[in-house]
Amino acid sequence: VDLDRLAIIEAHQLTAKLYNYLLNNTQHGKIAKDYLLDRGLREKQIDHFMIGYAPDQWDTLNRFLTARNFDPVLMEKGGLLSAKNDGSGHVDRFRSRIMFPIWDRDGKVIAFGGRVIGDGGPKYLNSPETMLFTKSRVFYNLHHARPAIRKSKQVVLFEGYMDVIKSWSAGVNNGVATMGTALTEEHCAMLGRQAEEIILCYDGDDAGQAAALKSIPMLEKAKLRVRVSILPKGKDPDEYIEEYGPDTFLREAIDGAATTTKFKLIYSRKNHILLTEEGRKNYLLEAAGIVADLDSAIEREVYLQELSREFNFPLDVLKQDCQAKVLELQ
Ligand code: GTP
Ligand code: MN
Ligand code: MN
Ligand code: MN
Ligand code: MN
Repeated sequence: VDLDRLAIIEAHQLTAKLYNYLLNNTQHGKIAKDYLLDRGLREKQIDHFMIGYAPDQWDTLNRFLTARNFDPVLMEKGGLLSAKNDGSGHVDRFRSRIMFPIWDRDGKVIAFGGRVIGDGGPKYLNSPETMLFTKSRVFYNLHHARPAIRKSKQVVLFEGYMDVIKSWSAGVNNGVATMGTALTEEHCAMLGRQAEEIILCYDGDDAGQAAALKSIPMLEKAKLRVRVSILPKGKDPDEYIEEYGPDTFLREAIDGAATTTKFKLIYSRKNHILLTEEGRKNYLLEAAGIVADLDSAIEREVYLQELSREFNFPLDVLKQDCQAKVLELQ
């Protein structure tokens, strides 16, 4: 079994090199590469992240691996090949996709994420769970980011490959991604062991914001101080960097990431129609509850003052309400 493991690791390493070669040196690969360049990636990033191309053929990888004496059944187990329906052999699992190698924390390729070129679905096809790849425990880019995370005691968490890659060239060298799959307790514990602070930099759409809200208590449980990047409506980090440039991204999204209280207040606002008195009242009630979660009376005071000013609402009433909720929580 240990030999199987080694063979699958070796096959992944060779496959990553093959796909990267095909991206850089074939006519069809050029279409994939032009797509990446068009999205703002540069040669340097393509090399560093070993991005590749799986051709629109059934047997490129199959023949490549077979010629090197890898057992197709084992390669199927490793997630690189698929068994044909009629049992007559194997075919490439990934076809006509841009390939992102996924590494373990030591830098061994253990899986792939494959993106369609352009539009069409499913947008990404990832390796299945294998003896090497357990999604609930893997972060994309952790092997590159680990030294920077340990040094700065800070980690930036993204949803996707492109977010990590784009932000890396913007200077974020402590960024990792969960690959869209849900953040697990195991993920949180791993980050909690290496960092003190986490910046959640999810997509600026409803799904991303809801995911951030859900992740906060899990990360806090892992003893991480959490801040949340607030991106303009609908933009994800990759698009934000493309549109506003790296400097604005670093300043607004990373350095300017909001406290969790601020984020929750902004999130809650969206669910209330502040033009009506009823809406304002309901928002203030919810806001008082959010602020009541804070342990420090000073911090609570700061947020309540802000709310009081903004809504031209008596501070002492807000305080009373908040205090009642604090007592409820105790
Ligand atoms: P780009 O359009 O290439 O910039 O991708 P994205 O990262 O912005 O995609 P999105 O925000 O939709 O998803 C975030 C992450 O979730 C991706 O990077 C993938 O890891 C994962 N993901 C997205 N779509 C799919 C899918 O259809 N299948 C699977 N398995 N994973 C997906
Ligand atoms: Mn590298
Ligand atoms: Mn998304
Ligand atoms: Mn996205
Ligand atoms: Mn994107």
